[in-house]
Amino acid sequence: MKNTFLSFIVVALVIFSGCHQPEKKENPQTLKQALAQQFYMGTALNSAQIKGVDTSSVKVIQQQFNSIVAENCMKSEVIHPEQDRYDFSLADQFVDFGVANQMFVIGHTLIWHSQVPDWFFKDDEGNEVSKEVLIARMRDHIYTIVGRYKGKVNGWDVVNEAFNDDGTWRESKFYNTIGEEYMALAFQFAHEADPEAELYYNDYSMVKPAKIKAVTALVKSLKEKGLRIDAVGMQAHYSMNFPDVKTFEESLLQLAQSGVNVMITELDISVLPSPYEMQGADIANRFEYTEAMDPYKNGLSDSMSVAFTNRYLDFFNVLLKHNDKVSRVTVWGVNDAQSWRNYWPIKGRTDYPLLFDRGNGKKAVVDEIIKAANDKKDIR
Ligand code: XIL
Repeated sequence: MKNTFLSFIVVALVIFSGCHQPEKKENPQTLKQALAQQFYMGTALNSAQIKGVDTSSVKVIQQQFNSIVAENCMKSEVIHPEQDRYDFSLADQFVDFGVANQMFVIGHTLIWHSQVPDWFFKDDEGNEVSKEVLIARMRDHIYTIVGRYKGKVNGWDVVNEAFNDDGTWRESKFYNTIGEEYMALAFQFAHEADPEAELYYNDYSMVKPAKIKAVTALVKSLKEKGLRIDAVGMQAHYSMNFPDVKTFEESLLQLAQSGVNVMITELDISVLPSPYEMQGADIANRFEYTEAMDPYKNGLSDSMSVAFTNRYLDFFNVLLKHNDKVSRVTVWGVNDAQSWRNYWPIKGRTDYPLLFDRGNGKKAVVDEIIKAANDKKDIR
């Protein structure tokens, strides 16, 4: 009897402790884990990372990110330097890295007026090619690249920066030679080359009403033609005071209303003074270096560090709030040393726009983002 009673007590205690012990589930500690239920968390890779020589950054990429995009190696001037010559050496390594690490791989970018070699638009005599020839070249370019990475690259920035900030068509050589039609053709060719791949339109100034209007009209017109478009990308090369977060949120919602996902495709936030009312990200814009424009060359001030953390967090709170509309957030590089913001729009400055410092150390903002994502999960 005594024994039966004792066993009863023991069993009861075991059950009780099992029920009441707080679950020892650790909160996710990395960006990709914390954000897994929200959206892909991506970064851009430069050539040292793709080649694997920058081992310290590669470790950060593997730990923190589940999506990658090539910063330069898939742009026309690199991957297709001459009409009859493609150079896939870096792009192949980039894609292999993504596949090996089970990442969502983005191809950037098929049709863009920048970083495109002259041969694309010229015949053997140096004259501008006809509309038909340019369309054929676009088709070959898109078929060859998208076809090569079929089933491996999950989504493509099909066309980059086709509109001016006032919503008119940019007078690129593609536009001037082919007309508006080049856009639909690019999406058509990309889809034919890999029907499974997601297709995107990507641009900067996606917080300007005229640009938003042009892009939402574009989505509508592509859909009316029966063409595939999965998302629009807001590049998001921002600064400490542009854009304000409310405008960003409203813009994101307006873009999403066109019926596609929104992606933040090239996020970086410069802490440096802007040389002009800098709001876009036209890579052709360059300004003279002055000491006054380079205030943190010996290190970032504590107050600016705090402001930077808060600013990033403001954006991430918006993104978490609207995670049903946001499919990916990609930062334009891993660490501050690698960021193009050190050389654009002024060469030779020291900027701090990314999530990891020059030694690949995690900035305070990383844990804040993780915390915000975990808090959101608890609320659900
Ligand atoms: C930038 C790269 O980061 C630089 O290394 C390169 O010199 C110029 O291009 N919009 C885009 C990106 O879509 O491809 C650009 O990347 C930044 C602006």
